[in-house]
Amino acid sequence: MTDNNKNKTKTNEDFNNSKWARGEYAKDYIECADILIPERGAFFEVFKSFYTDYFLPRNQSPQVQNVLDLGSGDGTLIKELLEVSSNINATILDAGETMIEQAKQRFSGKEDFAYVLATFEELLDGSVEVPLPKNDKGFDLICSALAIHHIDANGKKALFSLIKKLLKKGGFFINMDTVLAPSKALEDFYLQLRAKRSEQKRILARISKDYCKFTDRHKDKEHHAKIDTLSSQMEMLETLGFSEVDCYFKRGIFAAYGGVKP
Ligand SMILES: C[S@@+](CC[C@H](N)C(=O)[O-])C[C@H]1O[C@@H](n2cnc3c(N)ncnc32)[C@H](O)[C@@H]1O
Repeated sequence: MTDNNKNKTKTNEDFNNSKWARGEYAKDYIECADILIPERGAFFEVFKSFYTDYFLPRNQSPQVQNVLDLGSGDGTLIKELLEVSSNINATILDAGETMIEQAKQRFSGKEDFAYVLATFEELLDGSVEVPLPKNDKGFDLICSALAIHHIDANGKKALFSLIKKLLKKGGFFINMDTVLAPSKALEDFYLQLRAKRSEQKRILARISKDYCKFTDRHKDKEHHAKIDTLSSQMEMLETLGFSEVDCYFKRGIFAAYGGVKP
């Protein structure tokens, strides 16, 4: 093993030890995501409306919008955007090989799309760089869903700072993610809400697979140690100089928030 590879392995230790490094886990997630995240459809509606009714009218760029999806999974967010606009050039980044392969298959006709197999940690230590869009100085939009909570508060701050660098002036960031409730009582309430709605969805979808049964995986040590409150993440964006920082949607432990690079 070269020194470089040793460092890469160390950087990626958290990811490699996580369930996301396993292809089967990734495939189970793809199959059950709409059940485990009962608000997913509502999130996507807000996201598409954010794009067409708030982002596009304010965006100065020529027709094609350069969009980066961080922690893309199989590319669901970009698929949703393509439903409302075909003028999108996407860069899709995830640390999971299975996820990147699934995304490549999904967008096989889109020759200009770029794929980056990398962890957030590699972006932060500079061992991997996100390629900037061709003929452009930065991204118009950077989006993410249910992925940034996998890094701790310092990592989030550093990632938000990198996001600001990668955005064009006037570019937008939106993150739809799991957030920590401000008290245990609220968290217990939110988790009950989620469990009930997940179970209803699972029964309606007639899926009995164990992965799809709601368990308290939100409280898993590996998971719970890194999630942060919505207010602390919005404060990070404000401190970094993002403007119009706001929460666009929230239900229980799920929230969508972001801001604009002035
Ligand atoms: C819950 S899935 C969300 C996928 C997709 N955004 C969606 O909404 O369907 C979390 C994704 O984050 C990726 N991920 C987890 N930890 C990561 C890390 N440290 N760096 C980059 N990606 C990571 C996983 O591989 C997985 O695809």
